[in-house]
Amino acid sequence: MMNSEIAPGKAPVVRGDGHGSQSLLEVRGLGVRLPSGPKAEVRAVHSVDLSVGRGERVGIVGESGSGKSVTGRAIAGLLPQSGRVVVEGSIRFCDEEYVGASPKMWRNVRRELVSMIFQDPLSSLNPTMRIGRQVAECGRPLLSNERVFEYLEMAGLSDPAGVARKFPFELSGGMRQRVSIAIALAKGPELVIADEPTTALDVTVQAKVLATLKRSVDELGTSLLMISHDLAVIAKMCDRVYVMYNGRVVESGDTYSVFTRPQENYTQSLLKSVRSLSSADDALFSFEKDETRK
Ligand SMILES: Nc1ncnc2c1ncn2[C@@H]1O[C@H](COP(=O)(O)OP(=O)(O)O)[C@@H](O)[C@H]1O
Ligand SMILES: [Mg+2]
Repeated sequence: MMNSEIAPGKAPVVRGDGHGSQSLLEVRGLGVRLPSGPKAEVRAVHSVDLSVGRGERVGIVGESGSGKSVTGRAIAGLLPQSGRVVVEGSIRFCDEEYVGASPKMWRNVRRELVSMIFQDPLSSLNPTMRIGRQVAECGRPLLSNERVFEYLEMAGLSDPAGVARKFPFELSGGMRQRVSIAIALAKGPELVIADEPTTALDVTVQAKVLATLKRSVDELGTSLLMISHDLAVIAKMCDRVYVMYNGRVVESGDTYSVFTRPQENYTQSLLKSVRSLSSADDALFSFEKDETRK
């Protein structure tokens, strides 16, 4: 699907540019300062502009420490709660401003608008509660068993009733991450933010979990903000991409143009480091062909 949309020589298809009436998330001039010692602070994020349209899949890519996770956490209102954490600029969902919002407003955002998936699913799953109950609790009132099984199945778990009876420790890493996807989707969000969701998984499992995530957000019309250091993951998953370096967005645009005709030295060197690992020059986009469909 993505391959034909971004075939060379054709005008790239952008599924909405994140602006105008289709806009779901608008971030303008985002800055984040975090304490790094008793008197010291890091400027983790500077003047970041970013938008996500309805139903769009957007990526943030960059090397470790470039500010991707801090940006994602700021957008979900999940930065550490401390008077010394400073968030500047504007974060708007559906035209409503959230910079400076109360913890209660942010909890509403996470209940109704944004779900986050992290690299380590154990950090977000409750170790003492059966999977089925954890998915059911995403709804108010509790989701029915049928709905719970539907979400588990959508996340690619073939025996949803069996999985629902299990505890997190009884599942493999790949299955746990599928449960996290089911939970993220069962909350019925407008936007899923996935921060390196498959970095801890084997490459073969990674490809399947990514394909599931892509298919299910598309099926539900949910927007995706995908954070990864891995250009191949972003190439496979995202229509548009923001390249971050040193806390700033250095380049953005539709994924195919940015990855095939990078304008910035930093993006060029990121791409070179991937290509040196592979003999095929189009390694990034051939990744898409590996996608496993149900
Ligand atoms: N809780 C924190 N306290 C202090 N500094 C942090 C914290 N989290 C991240 N940082 C710093 O912010 C910068 C960006 O980090 P991060 O967003 O995690 O990078 P990435 O996700 O791109 O690897 C780094 O310099 C990192 O050390
Ligand atoms: Mg990170």
